[in-house]
Amino acid sequence: MPLPKAELHLHIEGTLEPELAFALAERNGVTLPYADTEALRKAYLFEDLQSFLDLYYGLMAVLRTEADFEELADAYLARAAAQGVRHAEIFFDPQAHAARGVEIGTVVEGLGRALDRSRERHGITTRLIMCFLRDESAESAMETLEAAKPHLHRITGVGLDSAEVGHPPRKFAAVYEAAAALGLRRVAHAGEEGPAAYVTEALDVLGVERVDHGLRCVEDPDLVRRLVRERVPLTLCPLSNVRLRAVDVLKDHPLPQMMAAGLLCTVNSDDPAYFGGYVDDTFHAVREALGLGEDQLRELARNSFEAAFLDGSPEEEAL
Ligand code: ADE
Ligand code: ZN
Repeated sequence: MPLPKAELHLHIEGTLEPELAFALAERNGVTLPYADTEALRKAYLFEDLQSFLDLYYGLMAVLRTEADFEELADAYLARAAAQGVRHAEIFFDPQAHAARGVEIGTVVEGLGRALDRSRERHGITTRLIMCFLRDESAESAMETLEAAKPHLHRITGVGLDSAEVGHPPRKFAAVYEAAAALGLRRVAHAGEEGPAAYVTEALDVLGVERVDHGLRCVEDPDLVRRLVRERVPLTLCPLSNVRLRAVDVLKDHPLPQMMAAGLLCTVNSDDPAYFGGYVDDTFHAVREALGLGEDQLRELARNSFEAAFLDGSPEEEAL
């Protein structure tokens, strides 16, 4: 039986498995530049974050209708349930879809249909976190927040993702301030490929409550002490870090040292269709490669609930 856990760093578009991508391509009359699922899988050899993003944004062309987003989310939730996930905080990238004329309402309402029955069907409670693409302009992020306003009853928070280096958190200060004023929770990717200083900036300028990745905080001992002191959760994604070459091999991942330093670490799958495993697969992989014991795995699972945006309602806490 997999450990019950919350998944806090999961891009729904990153759960698009090749089989579903081809099925949606056929349904929507989209031609993919790959002969078949095997050829597509063979393309999953990434040099860095950007080389992954190029393929990832390209494959999203198959996602067009509410039904597509509903099917995508339902397929993820079914897999997540089998991996012990009881609560999932799901990222989506509205700007990546708007670029092809797919409106935010189509994305949110489609995902929402699957999320609305998730508890009953899969035993998983959910949250939606809307991410801004940091390699797009701050104005575009603000327009996206504006476009999201009719759908805010479905959206718990905002995040920041895509190409990190050269796009520091401070670029998005105004949109994060506006999001906070709307009562939205705040997270951001920082310290994945970018420097530890971006983690500090995400905390100080954006007011984030959780840092996505945060891996490179280890390069700044003062920052590590602060993250420990303030109990700021990090949503680490070890399989992603290997596939995108932030670390060379899994056995070199600093997760054990980060846990030993007292950081509030969680382990997540990021883009599981691309990186070789869903969240319990990741737990198994870190146990094998890093020699984590049962106590440490239980600590990671416990941390995931502590770091979640659960409102403490007895119904949800009972899950
Ligand atoms: N979008 C999807 N996966 C991502 C990652 N690992 N980093 C930044 N943006 C992303
Ligand atoms: Zn991510």
